[in-house]
Amino acid sequence: MKIIFFCNQFANKNSLLSNKNMDIIVNKTNPLKGQITIPADKSITHRAFMFSALTKGKMKVSNYSKGADCLSTLQIIKHLGCNVEYIDDNNLIIDSTNAIKAPDINLNCGNSGTTVRLISGILASQNFNSKLFGDESLSKRPMKRIITPLELMGAKFKHNDYKLPLEIFGSELHGIDYVSHLASAQVKSCILLAGLNAQGVTSFTEPFKSRNHTELMFQYLGANINIEKNMVTVKKSQLNPVDITVCGDISSAAFFIVAALIVPDSEILIKNVGINPTRSGIIDILKSMNADIELINERTVSNEKVADILVKYSNLKCTSIQGEIIPRLIDEIPILALAATQAEGTTVIKDAQDLRNKEADRISAVKTELNKLGANIEETSDGLIIHGKTSLYGNSEINCYHDHRIAMSAFTAGLICKKPIKINQFQWVNISFPEFLDLFHRINYM
Ligand code: S3P
Repeated sequence: MKIIFFCNQFANKNSLLSNKNMDIIVNKTNPLKGQITIPADKSITHRAFMFSALTKGKMKVSNYSKGADCLSTLQIIKHLGCNVEYIDDNNLIIDSTNAIKAPDINLNCGNSGTTVRLISGILASQNFNSKLFGDESLSKRPMKRIITPLELMGAKFKHNDYKLPLEIFGSELHGIDYVSHLASAQVKSCILLAGLNAQGVTSFTEPFKSRNHTELMFQYLGANINIEKNMVTVKKSQLNPVDITVCGDISSAAFFIVAALIVPDSEILIKNVGINPTRSGIIDILKSMNADIELINERTVSNEKVADILVKYSNLKCTSIQGEIIPRLIDEIPILALAATQAEGTTVIKDAQDLRNKEADRISAVKTELNKLGANIEETSDGLIIHGKTSLYGNSEINCYHDHRIAMSAFTAGLICKKPIKINQFQWVNISFPEFLDLFHRINYM
């Protein structure tokens, strides 16, 4: 694998923060071999940072995500009165003794949907007003999904067509029984966070189970929470400061898992990956596609299930992905689509219309960019139809639509293209995974 950087710099958060373009060229690779440790889970880091701000104490967070999205959350809780002490590269202590207090500036959520949606649930019940804004992509994303239920709880907002910027007028909230038509962990977490500081009981019911990191961390920090199938109930509670170690991100591991499955003769060990069942739909689907994947050394870290994952190159078969499994692999659909281009037969993905509301319209982006490389993919209103197995030719220029997961999926595709591909603005990788290129170099067997 040979990667050329047009701006002559390596991926790091500064390339994004300074807005420098980083266009890269990816060439076909030799087999991938060796072992890597996956950096911290983005969803769990957001929650560890935000929930620590509610503990009125000191809480250590170890192995947190260094992605730009989580740094947006960290910055916001500092503006809300948390004092952050950096112990070393991997450990910090959040002191929320004087939090949460009125911020002296408007709060910048950057590119992060999780930041805006979760922090709104906290801010809606405070005795001060606040204003949230974000980057161009976040400013186009729908916020009605959180504004409607929060208003039912008594929250007050000012916005233009349910988009950012969002002014929040702190109000006294009361509990509701909310039945959501979306299986969304961001909406669920927002309402549960509001419920922690609302009068009475708040319940949230979803059609399918979305990721449950909020519920697990609420339990870990001592909240009054009850879980019954797809319904979660909370009562007003004070969270306790309990140190948290964040496990590796299965959504980041996904690119390495699929890379090893599609690059002939590869075999890699991916260490410290969170395998929470509400996140591990990708493993179930790939196994149903005949993937040689083994979970070893299963353990529990800060209430989350973790394992090391051994992956070997496999002859993949087509599958169908729909219904209850969609929220369990929602962020992995772009990279699963790439896997499906290398599987015998036609893979159908349905019920994934919310993919059009992510950092980019991922249904359209995946179809357009993978087809440029030689894939045979059709777009439907709520998913994709992928005809395999196609050999990818490459020799194209890829747009990543300011979307980190499209950028990393395109990179993974480039590893098996006959001709080099150029990926424009690859710096978007820093949103969730600034260590991405560094780790790929470690398993690059030349
Ligand atoms: C997330 C939930 C998912 C996911 C996002 C992170 C979270 O979004 O796509 O990347 O941390 O709660 P939805 O809840 O909107 O599906």
